[in-house]
Amino acid sequence: MKRLPGYPEALKAAKYLRSRWRERPRVGIVLGSGLGDVVNQVQRAIRIPFRSIPSFPRPSVKGHSGMLHLGTWAQKPVALLEGRMHLYEGYTPAEVVFPARVLILAGVEILIVTCAAGGIAPQASPASFMFFSDHLNFQGANPLAGAHDARWGERFVDLSQAYDPELRLKAGKAARAQGLKFSEGVYVGLLGPNYETPAEIRALQQLGAGAVGMSTVPEVLAARQMGARVLAIATISNRAAGLSQRPLSHEEVLEAGKISGRNLVKLFGALLPVI
Ligand code: HPA
Repeated sequence: MKRLPGYPEALKAAKYLRSRWRERPRVGIVLGSGLGDVVNQVQRAIRIPFRSIPSFPRPSVKGHSGMLHLGTWAQKPVALLEGRMHLYEGYTPAEVVFPARVLILAGVEILIVTCAAGGIAPQASPASFMFFSDHLNFQGANPLAGAHDARWGERFVDLSQAYDPELRLKAGKAARAQGLKFSEGVYVGLLGPNYETPAEIRALQQLGAGAVGMSTVPEVLAARQMGARVLAIATISNRAAGLSQRPLSHEEVLEAGKISGRNLVKLFGALLPVI
């Protein structure tokens, strides 16, 4: 049986990154579907394909190319992951969170996770941001389950403030200063890969979900176990199923990602200097 990438593999990958870049990244950024344009903002970047990093899984979905960008953005040393692994592709939870874990081992203290999502709350309109205040994990999987390796952190991780309130406040201020539309709300993570049914969206609405997507939750769980502070940002690409007349398509998500990518550049430009 193939050995799952665990702590020794992550340490080896982190050491490899440290050998390629003398600086310690402070902020790690995980980019969601179609948000790839953001990577051009990283200055003096060292770009490392995922396939060159020991034990890194390879992404397969369209719009994710699998590149790690190490460099500075707004004077902050950052590590930016372009291309993420999803549970719906068949990756194990341990594979999905491996890149985020490696970045944290390499020095990242703040993890910013972005994702495309469908808007459920009325204020979660297309092209706006939703900063996660909390989440519902409905993915049926958890990277913290299974044999416990105490080197990652505690077995029973407290999630009463999974999303750092101070980071969220600063993100809101940065968005406001840039004239960007945003809201705060609960993200519900589903397995996918199908978009939801209108009945599912009505049910999730009842449960207090503000936006819906197929990612992010695993990385957040792994980061919180390791003690990193987390900010998660949904870029709303569409109204969720049944809330608008249009059928949903991945092309539409990628198209909306281009606008959101430009907005993310503005947001990060204002946010990174103050975190
Ligand atoms: N549902 C789930 N994931 C998504 C959506 C959606 O409507 N839009 C972008 N990612």
